[in-house]
Amino acid sequence: MLPIMGMSSVNGGRTVDMNHSDHCTAVLPGGVQIPLLGFGTWQATGEDGYRAVLAALDSGYRHIDTATMYGNEEQVGRAVRDSGLRREVIFITTKLPPERVGWERKTIEESLRTLGVDYVDLWLVHWPPNDAGDLIPVWREMLAARDDNLARTVGVSNFSTAQIDELIQATEEAPAVNQIKWGPRLYDRQRHAEHRDRGVVLEGYSPFKTTDLSDPVLTRIADAHDVSPAQVVLRWHLDHEIVAIPKSVTPERIRANADIFGFSLTPEEMRDIDALGS
Ligand SMILES: NC(=O)c1ccc[n+]([C@@H]2O[C@H](COP(=O)([O-])OP(=O)(O)OC[C@H]3O[C@@H](n4cnc5c(N)ncnc54)[C@H](OP(=O)(O)O)[C@@H]3O)[C@@H](O)[C@H]2O)c1
Repeated sequence: MLPIMGMSSVNGGRTVDMNHSDHCTAVLPGGVQIPLLGFGTWQATGEDGYRAVLAALDSGYRHIDTATMYGNEEQVGRAVRDSGLRREVIFITTKLPPERVGWERKTIEESLRTLGVDYVDLWLVHWPPNDAGDLIPVWREMLAARDDNLARTVGVSNFSTAQIDELIQATEEAPAVNQIKWGPRLYDRQRHAEHRDRGVVLEGYSPFKTTDLSDPVLTRIADAHDVSPAQVVLRWHLDHEIVAIPKSVTPERIRANADIFGFSLTPEEMRDIDALGS
């Protein structure tokens, strides 16, 4: 079991224990809780993908990020069932590919069938539609799927703040989440604040691909906590209350990437890592 430590932080007006995986969540509309640590599955396909998701659930991850485009929803769903965990304790995200604009309902129904679940916890528009005129109609379809209980929450991915504002203006409903490329090198305080101000949870993707894990700032901080630079990068996301979804198909890395609840970063360390983005 991962350790419980005293540190806490305020999240949506609620105090959360940031040193225990079960409690380290952000609150989405409707009171839905999203674990700040998720497991990425892009390029984790076939039996490798199945084994990786099973290993992730065994290592304590309770949030799996997939997409129609990844071609692994069947393996993700099978691993969820074979984990022996109850469906309700696992947060599952999938995404609508841009080429399925106009076939939203059919696409989510196919995703649910392939995953073998009755609902997903989060359904995202994977990329803004190529035709800007489709932006609002797609969002209305996402909201309708949520209202029909096919997804507990809906959100977007790779959206600019201006595009998010268009959605809010047209429907008075903000996306629960915007999943965007994020990491220390891409740190942008202003962009993070823009999400917070709109009640949109920022979810970062590609935490390692965007990072030089041999950066001296990261290795120094890692040494100070007796952890790896990769663990520092993930903890930095959590301490900013940003969702991180690292991917790995390597069992030791899957386990190590989840073992980030036994330490936290000091304000000075957070500032030093933030500065890698300037
Ligand atoms: N919404 C979008 O448009 C979008 C785009 C990209 C990604 N995503 C999501 O975000 C997830 C994560 O992003 P990503 O897959 O692009 O990249 P990532 O998680 O930043 O990096 C994955 C790579 O890092 C390696 N790795 C994992 N743990 C490591 C560790 N502790 N030390 C060193 N290397 C490590 C993995 O190798 P091994 O697997 O060989 O261990 C793999 O090569 C994706 O899987 C997907 O779910 C979303």
